[in-house]
Amino acid sequence: MELRQLCALFLFSLPLSSAQRPNIVFIVADDLGWNDVGFRNPDMKTPNIDQLATEGIIFENAYVQPLCSPSRTAFMSGMFPFHAGMQHLVVGPPQAVCVPLNYTFLPQELKKLGYATHMIGKWHLGFCKWECTPTYRGFDTFFGYYNAAEDYFHHNVGRYLDYRDNQLPARNYSGEYSAFTFAQRAVDIIHRHNVSQPLFMYLPYQNVHGPIEVPQKYEDMYPSVRNEGRRKYCGMVSALDEAVGNVTKALKERGLFENTLILFTADNGGPIEVYANNWPLRGGKHTIWEGGTRGTSFMYGAGLQKTRTTYDGMIHAVDWKSTLVSAAGGTPETDIDGMSHWDSIRNGLPSSRTEFIYNIDDFEVPREGHAGIRVGDYKLILGYPGGPDGWHRPMNRTEDDKYEQTVYTEGDEPVHLFNIREDPTEHNDLAQQMPDMVAKLRARFEEYKKTMVPANFPEPDPASDPRKYGDVWSPGWC
Ligand SMILES: *[C@@H]1O[C@H](CO)[C@@H](O)[C@H](O)[C@H]1NC(C)=O
Ligand SMILES: *[C@@H]1O[C@H](CO)[C@@H](O)[C@H](O)[C@H]1NC(C)=O
Ligand SMILES: *[C@@H]1O[C@H](CO)[C@@H](O)[C@H](O)[C@H]1NC(C)=O
Ligand SMILES: *[C@@H]1O[C@H](CO)[C@@H](O)[C@H](O)[C@H]1NC(C)=O
Ligand SMILES: *[C@@H]1O[C@H](CO)[C@@H](O)[C@H](O)[C@H]1NC(C)=O
Repeated sequence: MELRQLCALFLFSLPLSSAQRPNIVFIVADDLGWNDVGFRNPDMKTPNIDQLATEGIIFENAYVQPLCSPSRTAFMSGMFPFHAGMQHLVVGPPQAVCVPLNYTFLPQELKKLGYATHMIGKWHLGFCKWECTPTYRGFDTFFGYYNAAEDYFHHNVGRYLDYRDNQLPARNYSGEYSAFTFAQRAVDIIHRHNVSQPLFMYLPYQNVHGPIEVPQKYEDMYPSVRNEGRRKYCGMVSALDEAVGNVTKALKERGLFENTLILFTADNGGPIEVYANNWPLRGGKHTIWEGGTRGTSFMYGAGLQKTRTTYDGMIHAVDWKSTLVSAAGGTPETDIDGMSHWDSIRNGLPSSRTEFIYNIDDFEVPREGHAGIRVGDYKLILGYPGGPDGWHRPMNRTEDDKYEQTVYTEGDEPVHLFNIREDPTEHNDLAQQMPDMVAKLRARFEEYKKTMVPANFPEPDPASDPRKYGDVWSPGWC
């Protein structure tokens, strides 16, 4: 080990005082694809994100779940969704579900270390009772929404409002695109923040999830993209980038930037049927192909060594909680699935994670078929991997082209084996050639499966009806 690394480890082992703890900004980009950022795809205009990524450390092997609620479960609790009953699809608005209340969430751990904790954006971890909601699960303040896929201007899910300022419905933001409201709220919090306390901000933006909506000027940044949906989607990415830029600018103005650690990650791969792009990876959101599970992710800032630009160690979404607690100078929990990679990332050492579960989901209908495991370089998929499948460049052939070659393999029950280090794009199925490796990974998968908690995926509950709550999706019915 180099002297510099030893020094870094030694320094790290000293307890941090409250004033020394880094501010932490955890940004989640909803449904952002692997190939939807400027640092991978020169057609994308994301100067703020690119600067943070290229001056920070880009993660080449940071995995997420194939969908929103499961990944966010992992981010907040450090638990694999299949251990929390959160592995099947996402939390629907009328479902009486939330992440089990006996798990502590990341902001609760950071509060123990003296942090002020703020959340702005999308929750999607259940809201049927107040105890499930952000201000009861560790956040001092919350501005945002509980569900998903609402419209960006009126903030409705179905016909009902889903927008909150702490616990109160936020009714007067109609017409304002959420990225502006969210960025402005973050800027206001940064300006008001008492700097004698470390700051934690969780910023799970609405961008760039569907519906495909963006103010015209961002769409106009992409005149050469012929496909209208893709052009708007690109604009949504650039609006997100501007919001990220506004937050970093506020941190600089307040003198907080130098001591801030930023973690940026997608929550799942891009939905290629909704104009996102994961080229050259296979598949997308809803699948356990790499395109659905290898997230665009990087870290920037306080505590990192500036000697390298990428980190290729294996990281899973469950690890961010422990990693950020370590970065904050705390001691990560030992009874959760996640592990800290803080020392490995900042010193460029190998990852201590050697395996993870892509998903274990026994639920039959609708079948997303998620059974997959990674052990070392090998990945085993049992059964239907989810769709769409295939390798796709960004849509741009005609004004409204679709992925006509999207391959759905639903119905067949294959076993797929890939060497992901040699074949990250999953072209070369080794299952026939390497039966021993298939057996080895299958046995490991079965061990994990014994620890599965059945998915909590109940029928819609009529008690959720927002008309009982002034036409607002509200807690209080479970
Ligand atoms: C939370 O409760 C579930 C279900 O009762 C249990 O399986 C799990 O071990 C508990 N987890 C913790 C951290 O207490
Ligand atoms: C909405 O109302 C709140 C509380 O009255 C106020 O602080 C906020 O500035 C208002 N927002 C807009 C966009 O008018
Ligand atoms: C960023 O800040 C500028 C200057 O205040 C503002 O005009 C712009 O709308 C903001 N953009 C976003 C996405 O919040
Ligand atoms: C900031 O926090 C410190 C420590 O808790 C406190 O002494 C100080 O009064 C606070 N400053 C303001 C402006 O609230
Ligand atoms: C989209 O296609 C048009 C027409 O072929 C081409 O001029 C343009 O460069 C393409 N844009 C992107 C971003 O690929």
